[in-house]
Amino acid sequence: MPSATENSSNGASNGYANPSIPTSCPSCPTPLKYSGTLDAYPYFEITPIIGREYPTVKITDVLNSPNAEAQIRDLAIVISERGVVFFRDQNDLNVPDQKRFCDLLGKLSGRPEENGLHVHPIYRDPGNLTLPDGSTDENIYVINSEAQKKIYRTMAGRKLTEPRDLSREWHSDSTFENVPSDFSFLKMEETPPHGGDTLWCSGYEIYDRISPSFQRYLETLTATCAQPVFRSAASAGGYTIMSPRGSPLNNDDSFAPSHPVVRTNRVTGWKAIFAGVGLHVTKINEVYKYEDELIRDYIMRLITRNHDCVARMKWTKNAAAIWNNSCVWHAATPDTHLVEGNRVGVRASSIGEVPYLDPKSKSRREALGIPVVE
Ligand SMILES: [Fe+2]
Repeated sequence: MPSATENSSNGASNGYANPSIPTSCPSCPTPLKYSGTLDAYPYFEITPIIGREYPTVKITDVLNSPNAEAQIRDLAIVISERGVVFFRDQNDLNVPDQKRFCDLLGKLSGRPEENGLHVHPIYRDPGNLTLPDGSTDENIYVINSEAQKKIYRTMAGRKLTEPRDLSREWHSDSTFENVPSDFSFLKMEETPPHGGDTLWCSGYEIYDRISPSFQRYLETLTATCAQPVFRSAASAGGYTIMSPRGSPLNNDDSFAPSHPVVRTNRVTGWKAIFAGVGLHVTKINEVYKYEDELIRDYIMRLITRNHDCVARMKWTKNAAAIWNNSCVWHAATPDTHLVEGNRVGVRASSIGEVPYLDPKSKSRREALGIPVVE
């Protein structure tokens, strides 16, 4: 994979270096410091570990404020520290402003300057869902539960069955790209009276739940994040894959990059478990198959057995969530077939930097001076 990063002696502190893991992003700034421009806005934390809600902030007011750039940069820092931030009643926010805001979060928080919003690989697929006004946008991914039900009904032999294991839902956006997403911004245009909640889990805290010895070992590993479905969909549909997709490095159609299992978040400088688990992760590279299963099962077990690491969004009409994919995974709840009402969401994502692990970076608890309970 082409890389704009330095690879040197990563993992040297534990005696086993993995030279395929980049150790920095040379064009990214050192970790950023919050400057206080959001202090006047009321907020509450979702849990002690993850998430924040600004119940009255309008994204459009932030965009139009005289110090918009400072506020957006501070918000990028808050999102990166808390993992995910919720907003309500964004009824006046249109798609162009949602895109602009998402792009600015990445740009003002130091992503490589050549990057921008992600372009969905199979945007040319005629089956793609449209925005509520009937249009399409290469930077917007549309979720629509009613349309999804119809697609399932038309698939021969594909039954809509009750899910039995929702652990498969956890993922980080665009990890199938050489340069995955940093910020994702999802706004819910329509929502049923209940159901369809989204959950986020802190990769910082999952890292902090692991023993120091095993942390050092995981820091030597990479994972393949393969998503072959795009290429097969494009060849079956007779169209070409979009390229580039938010970065000059996202320009091929192999969709099988290797990413570090432990990654440094460029905004906070904190370490998080990243490619150890998730929908797009196909295998841990440096180990035997049985060991691969054990490691991924262990990380999934930490996620599913530690619900204090999880923030849950009960969506309301025009609510929004913005998260940093370098330090949280998220999972949809596929239960909307049990209720009346449509769930329609629009998502934009910014492309960040090639994932790296700075051996000098700290864990969240270490950086904040929060003791680790054994
Ligand atoms: Fe996602």
